[in-house]
Amino acid sequence: MEKPANLSNKVLQCIQKRRSCRKFTAQAVEDYKVESLLKAALWAPTSKNNRPWHFVVVDNPQLLGKLSECKPHGSAFLAEAPLAIVVLADPSKSDVWVEDCAIAAILMQITAEDLGLGSTWIQIRQRMYNEKETAGDYIKKLINAPAGLEVASIIALGYKEKERAPYSEEYLLPERVHRNKF
Ligand SMILES: Cc1cc2nc3c(=O)[nH]c(=O)nc-3n(C[C@H](O)[C@H](O)[C@H](O)COP(=O)(O)O)c2cc1C
Repeated sequence: MEKPANLSNKVLQCIQKRRSCRKFTAQAVEDYKVESLLKAALWAPTSKNNRPWHFVVVDNPQLLGKLSECKPHGSAFLAEAPLAIVVLADPSKSDVWVEDCAIAAILMQITAEDLGLGSTWIQIRQRMYNEKETAGDYIKKLINAPAGLEVASIIALGYKEKERAPYSEEYLLPERVHRNKF
């Protein structure tokens, strides 16, 4: 990439700076920031404008503790997070609810970065709680979600305990970009 990216572009700066954060300070996330995160999700584009998703804001420490046990790996740190947003959807409303949920989730992560917050995506769809129960079914019981909904992910959020280095220009993989053909 010959020309350096336009770093005066705030959205691009947030995309470059965003790194998964799994350790948060004890500081609660202010309501106005939670509202901004939800606006980012609710303004997300969806196929045919179906908007099949729901978002459950969780700030109850006991509930966060229970959610952190939703799968054997990759969710334990949620027990110490001040905030989580569970992303779920009604598959009967859209055949591409997975994509719709993913777009809303990443827009929340980018917005979190802009708000000075850290975040991490916790994968739920296709993950198991134990040998018999899916992580999604375990979560749905905890948050009283209707049976017909499917949980896509949980976004863990909070103030970062430590700032991680942003991505560098060297991290880019220009060879993965093809012009007109491979
Ligand atoms: C679809 C998806 C699923 C992920 N699932 C988890 C997860 O369950 N637990 C976790 O701690 N991180 C999870 N992550 C975060 C990735 O591990 C992380 O984004 C990746 O290692 C790159 O690091 P970075 O976020 O700092 O750029 C997930 C990320 C994506 C995009």
